[in-house]
Amino acid sequence: MPGDDFGEHWRRCRERTESALKGVFEQQPAIPAGLMDAMRYATLDGGKRLRAMLVYAAGEQLKGCRPASGDVLDAAAAAVELVHAYSLVHDDLPAMDDDDLRRGRPTCHRMFDEATAILAGDALQSLAFEILCDGDPRSLSAERRLSMVNCLAAGIGGSGMAGGQMLDMAATGQTLDLEDLATMHGMKTGALIRTCCVLGGLAAAESTESQLNALDSYGKAIGMAFQIVDDILDVTTDSTVLGKDSGSDDRMQKTTFVSLLGLDEARVQRDRWHEAALENACALGDNGGIFHQIANFVVARSY
Ligand code: IPE
Ligand code: IPE
Ligand code: MG
Ligand code: MG
Ligand code: MG
Repeated sequence: MPGDDFGEHWRRCRERTESALKGVFEQQPAIPAGLMDAMRYATLDGGKRLRAMLVYAAGEQLKGCRPASGDVLDAAAAAVELVHAYSLVHDDLPAMDDDDLRRGRPTCHRMFDEATAILAGDALQSLAFEILCDGDPRSLSAERRLSMVNCLAAGIGGSGMAGGQMLDMAATGQTLDLEDLATMHGMKTGALIRTCCVLGGLAAAESTESQLNALDSYGKAIGMAFQIVDDILDVTTDSTVLGKDSGSDDRMQKTTFVSLLGLDEARVQRDRWHEAALENACALGDNGGIFHQIANFVVARSY
């Protein structure tokens, strides 16, 4: 797991994200109580907050770029974690992966019911866009905010995360080739992770086109490494450590890097993407900086 300095950074990111998310929910008095309970349950007090950490890193630690305004970054970090929580709630539904455990607790549809879980996912998604649009124009121009909204929408829609989940469902019980598997992983998981990097970069008002492109390439590499590690952990780690049902991929006959290539070769592929991420990190921070550390964290994680 992470070294001391990074461990402390990670802890502070988790706290900051948690308080940003709580603030967002507190400003939503009109959401019916039963729906709000499920939204809070799915989002608060759990998760590694990798996506938020990426937003903060890109927004605050880009080489040669003045840091983004804190309120814009908090909104973007909360937005990506809301979207991620929505994706997990829907991913766990009986119609998809049919899982009972998430973040060490019963999945949302198990704790509440399926209809509530579907609606909680819907409402989490739209709340993400609401908070991304709604901010002080002195913190960031309307043009940049619009780019952020566009970036998130593109990352999680049919040509990004939702499309990838469709490919995942279509491939259940089938055997994909490596190229199609990489496309699926790049969409279902990689697209949101890329989006987090670019969103943070967009929040930093002075970031250049080439920095945004470098963030995108870095995000692509850690996104792939991240999902390969997820596939590996599913077969190597038990549910109590993972906080979610291990062996779920095999039970659901998913094509994963492990099912297609075996554990050893999956690790080789993971290392390849890790290397690519480290290379990209050098363009973003001094000696790779925080981007280097996050890439290491993504592959060294135990859950
Ligand atoms: C799990 O993501 C879903 C995937 C895309 C593999 P995380 O492993 O980041 O889940 P949390 O947020 O830490 O629970
Ligand atoms: C989930 O992939 C990807 C999204 C939620 C978009 P998985 O189905 O592998 O995630 P886990 O293993 O359930 O967390
Ligand atoms: Mg799934
Ligand atoms: Mg799943
Ligand atoms: Mg998985």
